[in-house]
Amino acid sequence: MNLKEQAAREALKFVQSGMVVGLGTGSTTKFFIEMLSEELKAGRLKNIVGVPTSQSTVALAESLRISLAGVEDYEMLDLAVDGADEVDPQLNLIKGLGKALLREKIVETHAKHFVVIADESKVVEKLGIHVALPVEIVQFAAGAHVRWLNTLGCAAELWLEEDGKPAMTDNGNYLAKCTFKDGISDVHILAAELDSYSGIVEHGLFLDMAQTVIIGKENGPEVKTKK
Ligand code: A5P
Repeated sequence: MNLKEQAAREALKFVQSGMVVGLGTGSTTKFFIEMLSEELKAGRLKNIVGVPTSQSTVALAESLRISLAGVEDYEMLDLAVDGADEVDPQLNLIKGLGKALLREKIVETHAKHFVVIADESKVVEKLGIHVALPVEIVQFAAGAHVRWLNTLGCAAELWLEEDGKPAMTDNGNYLAKCTFKDGISDVHILAAELDSYSGIVEHGLFLDMAQTVIIGKENGPEVKTKK
């Protein structure tokens, strides 16, 4: 079985009938959403409401006839399930290379239980070692925001699509990618700096958010729980 699919199947064990479930974005979560739809069609799960984290997830869930609602419709979601770009030993994450980081963080902040699903290629000792950190920025003065990002010990650039146009989020914002040569030395300090700067809408550091991380591995899924 594909390792992303294996992690997604394991996450289904956390879903119970009647739950409101945050639905992430990306190829791993796609497996989960498809499996959820199969369980609903077979009647093994009932009355599930999904809360999507992107327009692409809305389209997928609607095509599978999963009922959807917004974060504002519930005080708290029972569960959220999403992929990640990197996972460190403390279960901190880099997310957002699917461009959905702002809505993902909003939905997952409102979940009682946030479960991350990933294949073992996403596991790292230090965040930022394999992938760039995505940062959502406002269009106004975008070049100034990117210049400031370059003062944070990374090489930052505006995220451009293949046609040369800036990548755009579902929220109408641009994105920057920050590459840290030897990984991020202190993720909490970096997150605080990014949180405090005007023009930065959100960043892909998801710290102290995931309670459970399911890693798809050749010899079966590993379930890690936040201590
Ligand atoms: C979406 O914005 C991201 O946070 C994804 O969750 C992340 O990129 C993982 O994607 P895959 O499941 O496709 O690897």
